[in-house]
Parts: sequence; structure tokens; C-alpha cells
Amino acid sequence: MTKKIRSAVIGLGRLGYWHAVNVASRIPNAELVAVCDMNLEEAQRISKELEVPFSTSSPDDIFQDGTIEAVIISSPTSTHFDLLKMASESGKAIFVEKPLTINLSEANEIKGIMEKNNTICQVGFMRRFDPAYDAAKKRIVAGEIGEPIYFRAISRDPYAPHESFIKHSGGMFVDVSIHDFDIARYLMKSEVTSVYAHGRVLKHPFLEKYNDVDQSLAYLEFASGAAGDAEASRNAYYGYDIRAEVIGTEGTILIGNLQQHNIHILTKSGATHDILPDFPTRFTDAYNLELADFFRVVTEKETPRVTVDDGVKALEIALAARESYRTEQKIDLTKTTVG
Ligand SMILES: NC(=O)c1ccc[n+]([C@@H]2O[C@H](COP(=O)([O-])OP(=O)(O)OC[C@H]3O[C@@H](n4cnc5c(N)ncnc54)[C@H](O)[C@@H]3O)[C@@H](O)[C@H]2O)c1
Repeated sequence: MTKKIRSAVIGLGRLGYWHAVNVASRIPNAELVAVCDMNLEEAQRISKELEVPFSTSSPDDIFQDGTIEAVIISSPTSTHFDLLKMASESGKAIFVEKPLTINLSEANEIKGIMEKNNTICQVGFMRRFDPAYDAAKKRIVAGEIGEPIYFRAISRDPYAPHESFIKHSGGMFVDVSIHDFDIARYLMKSEVTSVYAHGRVLKHPFLEKYNDVDQSLAYLEFASGAAGDAEASRNAYYGYDIRAEVIGTEGTILIGNLQQHNIHILTKSGATHDILPDFPTRFTDAYNLELADFFRVVTEKETPRVTVDDGVKALEIALAARESYRTEQKIDLTKTTVG
């Protein structure tokens, strides 16, 4: 029988809850033995629902339990640094949600700590595990579209998250576009060398308080000579709209569409189809597959498919994009580091 890895989830909000469901019931070699949220009532409610034996509001309880081998950190981004440090020092294998940390100095310090402690740490860029992005990657590697020369991404949320989330999120480029910056590096097989970003508040005035935007565009240049753009929005009232395109010298790959189910309703008033409502629905498989791979990697003591270094590189681009938007200047990542 496969040995089950004793695990805990820290942070049980919009996404952490789904990570807890996956670890508790969908990953054969994992066992969810503890859940932690600073909102104790929520931790207790979820522990009861998922039949998890232990719940706490203190991450220390998790780190001090030597029988827990792996932790999933899905608390707000501003808490990642402290939790990552403690998890690594206490010898746990770690899955951490994106962004790795809120700034680059924290990210680089974490990278050093992980290397020193030989910690297995995977960053939550789940799009790499999504069947559509994964198929696109394989087709690109197989040479089906020739050399990738242009990347295009659309990441639109149906609403702006609550203010309590926004203020710890790092803003649009660090919270949302970072997914596209990671997948751009991955699909284009090249590092981003410059970013020139723009943004506006068009619908959610409270974002101005945080120098954040609800609509943005980042223009990217790659070391290979390729270019690209990533649009992000909190204004897609119609649903959750995630698409990408890679243009190659011999063809183009389109990734994703709006539909949840492959059906059209035809009536005298016209044709309609449904629209994906939110991230847990769009990326159900990806969230499951990334955690399944994390537990495989922990069992086999391998290097994760998404490393801390990937987390650092995507954060570098995101912070440069935010700086570019604020200064209205193109940022050359080969010459400047934005912390
Ligand atoms: N990969 C993705 O698609 C994706 C989607 C959403 C969120 N995220 C990331 O997941 C993380 C959480 O986002 P969310 O939307 O679930 O946030 P959320 O605000 O819905 O939930 C965060 C939870 O963490 C708890 N918490 C806060 N500080 C804590 C601490 N120190 N210890 C334990 N619990 C603590 C809060 O009480 C809350 O329940 C963020 O880093 C975010 O960027 C990733």
C-alpha cells in the first residue's frame, strides 16, 4: 500500500478550502491531518466537514508537529514569507500559493533558506498543469507551430475581490498577471527581458486607495526576440475569462475559451452557451493535478515542476510591471531589479 504523506493546509479561504478538499479526498498518497486558519471557527467548520482530526488558528501548532511532513500554504500573500521560513526550518515539504512572497528581497531570502535546508517547495502556478496549457506546451515543444514569436494572454475576473484581500495581494500585476508572466516564460521557452505596463481604475474606485487598477496591459519582450502582451481585468461581469495564444513561425495555438460545458442552446431568440463562472470551476483539474504532482515529488524526493526559482522570476516580472505602470517607463529587466 502507498504511504500517505501527513499534511496540513494553512489558510482556508477562497482557494485554501479547495486545496483542503483535494488533499482530503482526491489525492491517494496524501492524508489531511490538520487544517489551520486564523479564523478558528472557519478552521473548525472545515475540519468537521472534511473529517480532519485537528484544527487550529496557530500555524506554530502545525510546524511544531514533527509527524506532519507537508504543508500547503494558501494564506494571504503578505503572510507567505514568515510561514515559508518557519515551514522550511521545521523540515516540511511545502506547496505555496503564488505569488511566492510580496517582494523580491523576501523571495530571494526564501530561495536561500530553501537551498540551505534542502526543502522541496513547489509554487502554485497551476496553469502549467491545466490540460489545455499542458497540451499547448507539448505541441510547442514538438515544433508544431515552429518557433514561438508572440504571446498573448487575457485574464479577466468577474469581480474585484474584497478590500481585505486586495490590500495584501500586491495589486493586479502581482496577483493576477503573474500567472500569465509564468506561463509566458514556460510556453515561449524564453525569459522576459523587458516590460512596459499600463493600467486604469475603470469600475472599482476603492482600488485607488491601494494604488491598484482594475484593468491593465503589460507588453513583454523576450530574450529570444519574441514579444507579447498580457491583459488583466476585474471587470468581466459575464464570467471568468482566461485565454492565451502563442503565435509561432508556422502556426498559432489558441488556449482556452469561455465555455464550461460544450453545449449550445438554440432557440428562436438565438444561440447561447454558458460561461465559466470562477477560478475553482475553470481550474478544478489543474488544482488537483498540481497537488497530485507535488505529493508525487515529495514521495520520490524529486524537484517540483514549478520551482522557487520560477516563483522568483515571475515575481520579478510582476514587480517590474507594477513599477512600469506607476512610473510610465519601460523596465529593462536585464539592467534593473525592482524589489
Ligand atoms: N492559484 C490561483 O489560481 C489562486 C487563486 C486565488 C488565490 N490564490 C492565492 O492564494 C492565497 C490566498 O488567497 P485567497 O483568495 O484564498 O484568500 P482569502 O482571503 O480568501 O483567504 C485567506 C485565508 O487565510 C486566512 N489567514 C490569514 N492570515 C493567516 C495566517 N497568518 N495563518 C493562517 N491563516 C491565515 C484568512 O483567515 C483566510 O481564511 C494568495 O496568496 C493568493 O494569491 C491563488
